[in-house]
Amino acid sequence: MYSGKAPLTIFFISGFTFAEFGCIRTRNSKVTCCHFSSDGKLLASAGHDKKVVLWNMDNLQTQSTPEEHKLVITDVRFRPNSSQLATASVDKSVRLWDAANPSYCLQEYSGHSSAVMSLDFHPKKTDLFCFCDTDNEIRYWNITSSSCARIFKGGTAQVRFQPRLGQLLAAASDKVVSIFDVETNSQMYSFQGHPELVNYICWDANGEVLASVSQNLVKIWSMTSGECIQELSSNGNQFHSCVFHPSYSTLLVVGGLSSFELWNMADNKSMTIPAHENIVSALAQSPVTGMVASASHDSSVKLWK
Ligand SMILES: *[C@@H]1O[C@H](CO)[C@@H](O)[C@H](O)[C@H]1NC(C)=O
Ligand SMILES: *[C@@H]1O[C@H](CO)[C@@H](O)[C@H](O)[C@H]1NC(C)=O
Ligand SMILES: *[C@@H]1O[C@H](CO)[C@@H](O)[C@H](O)[C@H]1NC(C)=O
Repeated sequence: MYSGKAPLTIFFISGFTFAEFGCIRTRNSKVTCCHFSSDGKLLASAGHDKKVVLWNMDNLQTQSTPEEHKLVITDVRFRPNSSQLATASVDKSVRLWDAANPSYCLQEYSGHSSAVMSLDFHPKKTDLFCFCDTDNEIRYWNITSSSCARIFKGGTAQVRFQPRLGQLLAAASDKVVSIFDVETNSQMYSFQGHPELVNYICWDANGEVLASVSQNLVKIWSMTSGECIQELSSNGNQFHSCVFHPSYSTLLVVGGLSSFELWNMADNKSMTIPAHENIVSALAQSPVTGMVASASHDSSVKLWK
């Protein structure tokens, strides 16, 4: 399904356009997460309908996994340079899938005591992923040995490894974002300053800064100084998600209540663009294709370029 909307030119970056390019709808259920495969050829999305929809970027055809999760899927992530992907769910389990054969689940990690809210693969040690739960517990899991490598506290809403290097892990819990050193198993920073729950975090492509989102505020944190270097308040919109633009490194796309806030951090200007009919719950990007994907509680996933 294409929607032939005219490209939108933003005044502050010459030649920049950001327009809707495609849209898929699920049967009346909220979408909570989305992620591109490393080669940019697949987009996975999931949510309240308990299955993963795999969207082929070449022909815009979709395939789905069976509904093996018993409750809402909270996060979906591809394994780096692989067709494998993993899902986290409120049903207290994590499942591993292969997009090349999505009709069955490769592995299930259950026996957990609380809802799993987020997961992420290490960008280099790709047999390692971590996940966090509503008990604020983070676990590193080794796929090869099928064993838990480490358990520690500090993450509830989201966990994300630093891109490329994977030396750091960012985790959001309550109003705090913690940065852990994966190699030394120590906490490097504890970022405080959000007056409300942090519900989303994202790294820039180089892993030098991290953005964190709470309903009224986005904060940008520097890994060099350990400080908040910039912020944007929502001015009445409700922020829910964010992603750095794949082609313009100073541009942060923030998902709000039915709209995006495009924030050019270089000149500290932002503009609002209508996007969905409900909360923009998740955002993803692919540096290979330059595409941004948005998932929403309006039951749709959209592509933007
Ligand atoms: C993934 O592929 C890219 C490009 O071929 C390569 O640079 C990178 O090191 C690979 N990552 C892993 C974890 O194998
Ligand atoms: C995972 O387990 C395998 C087999 O025990 C081991 O060779 C590998 O180094 C482990 N990976 C990590 C990242 O610890
Ligand atoms: C960016 O702009 C906002 C208002 O739009 C302002 O409150 C804030 O102080 C500015 N930040 C910087 C670093 O100039």
